[in-house]
Amino acid sequence: MQIIGTGSALPEKVVSNDMLAGFLDTSDEWITSRTGIATRRLLSNDNLGDLAIAAARQAVASSGVDCNDIDYIICSNVANNYVTPSLSTIIQGGIGDECSCPCMDLNGACAGFIYAIDIAEALLKTDRAKHILIVCAEEPSKFCNWHQRETSVLFGDGAGAVVVTGGDGLLARRVTAKSQKDVLYYKRPLETTPYDRSTENAEPLVMHGRDVFRMAVQGSLADINALLTESGLKPDDIDFYLLHQANMRIIKSIREGLGQEEQKFPCNLQRYGNTSSASIPILIDELTTEGRLKDGALLMLSAFGAGFVTGAALLRWGKAA
Ligand code: COA
Repeated sequence: MQIIGTGSALPEKVVSNDMLAGFLDTSDEWITSRTGIATRRLLSNDNLGDLAIAAARQAVASSGVDCNDIDYIICSNVANNYVTPSLSTIIQGGIGDECSCPCMDLNGACAGFIYAIDIAEALLKTDRAKHILIVCAEEPSKFCNWHQRETSVLFGDGAGAVVVTGGDGLLARRVTAKSQKDVLYYKRPLETTPYDRSTENAEPLVMHGRDVFRMAVQGSLADINALLTESGLKPDDIDFYLLHQANMRIIKSIREGLGQEEQKFPCNLQRYGNTSSASIPILIDELTTEGRLKDGALLMLSAFGAGFVTGAALLRWGKAA
């Protein structure tokens, strides 16, 4: 597998910590020191489907592949307004009338991009597809209780996309899951029926922050070290660690666990907050646009999220297929 195109799209509305402190019992000082987040982009007059399509179009255009040559679309999304049809079919309709490939959504929480890479690699290896569009589109701001400062300050909305094709860029990968439903969950309301009128099951995002913090650091370090060992590499051999953008202190703990310098850990969570599975593809698109990813660079991707799930991928960057 090789990444041959990237794209991203963010909502227009920029929300600062001070703006949140206008209606929540919080402060810029608390949010910045505990998370590293200064602003986030939140959907207001825009919608997630349009962001996902914009990111997808950019990725397809930069890949040089015609949209009718895309033969699978995988969309990573935790939840959005449409339970059905899938967001991937909505994206398909937005990238061109000629595109008629199979479409699939997956919910790998914040590790969804790595799960999508894992599935894409399997589809490419078994000749089920030659070009796959992966779009991670997330609106976690819509799961939060906006009266609760513990969760709502952490998240931002956004979409990131890549086009992948056959190649030798994916050197190793690992995805894990260990059922832990109480530490991080969102229960969406469903319709009542004549036989079940209960609505009490719906609940905005609940998060046990300290448990998630600990599981994130442990899980990410375990994945990264496993891939390094499998590949016969040392932490120093990696050019960039592209970690899920959840919290600067989580990233710092992982970085210190690997004994690495800060420059190897590019971040955008200061500007976007936690955009769930979209955070790594948005980061990849930004680094590509800035020309910071040189051919041959070794990238270690690592993410974690509700489930509890984790995933990591070791990539050698380059367009050659
Ligand atoms: N503003 C001000 N105070 C806040 C606050 C906010 N937004 N959120 C919580 N607090 C308060 C708490 O109520 C608590 O007050 P108390 O001491 O009077 O009880 C205090 O700050 C400390 O809370 P605590 O939960 O111990 O803080 P923390 O240092 O663990 O940081 C998180 C909280 C959420 C930032 C941290 O646990 C974290 O980053 N966890 C991982 C979250 C994450 O990444 N989730 C997504 C994974 S995909």
